[in-house]
Amino acid sequence: MSSVPLGVESVEKGSVPLLGVLISGRGSNLQGFVTAIDEGKLRAGIAVVISNVSDAGGLAIARGAGIESLVMPHRAHDSRDAYDRALVDALRERGVQLVCLAGFMRLLGPVFCGAFPSAVLNIHPSLLPSFPGTDAQRQAIDRGVKVSGATVHFVTTELDAGPIVSQRAVPVLDDDTPETLAARVLTVEHEIYAEAVERILWEPWHITGRRVVFGSRA
Ligand code: GRF
Repeated sequence: MSSVPLGVESVEKGSVPLLGVLISGRGSNLQGFVTAIDEGKLRAGIAVVISNVSDAGGLAIARGAGIESLVMPHRAHDSRDAYDRALVDALRERGVQLVCLAGFMRLLGPVFCGAFPSAVLNIHPSLLPSFPGTDAQRQAIDRGVKVSGATVHFVTTELDAGPIVSQRAVPVLDDDTPETLAARVLTVEHEIYAEAVERILWEPWHITGRRVVFGSRA
């Protein structure tokens, strides 16, 4: 079986790689992981779900699935570095090997990214590099594009600019609102995020420049 320089190779035989999922809201992408794991499409475990928002809907999803959940409000920390360090400690204590941001509305700095090199993924509701940042669906409609979609990418300290793992397009319809487009994109998000995590965990890949190349480690 192939694996990647994520530490998966160091997982004991018979056990699965562990994810940490960071959320701020409703958690439908978290639910997508839970479903994919249940269906055997994603060979991983979720060690912990961390929310920076105490009433995030995704916390109930974690509880319902029997996954440990933590509320870690960023405001409890004096600086971004201090918050990043607290997150890193919580994830490391639980043996997390791949961190998946799923609607986590917080920028991660060099302390976090440095602690998990090439091991933090995010899902974004546009075809990056178009429309980074918040309100991506509104940006797409306002710009008049006919096609948008979803992107899974590695997280770097530059917002929504890390190497792209996977993308899938959806049409933008003439009568779309940000809400109708978001719903169409979300369906695709749930498909490609779990698929991308499975590939990153279990296929050989490497990064060259900004490109994620599957099929070999170098
Ligand atoms: C998704 O649209 C995701 O692309 C963006 O935030 C939203 C989170 O949705 N980063 P959910 O909390 O996973 O339902």
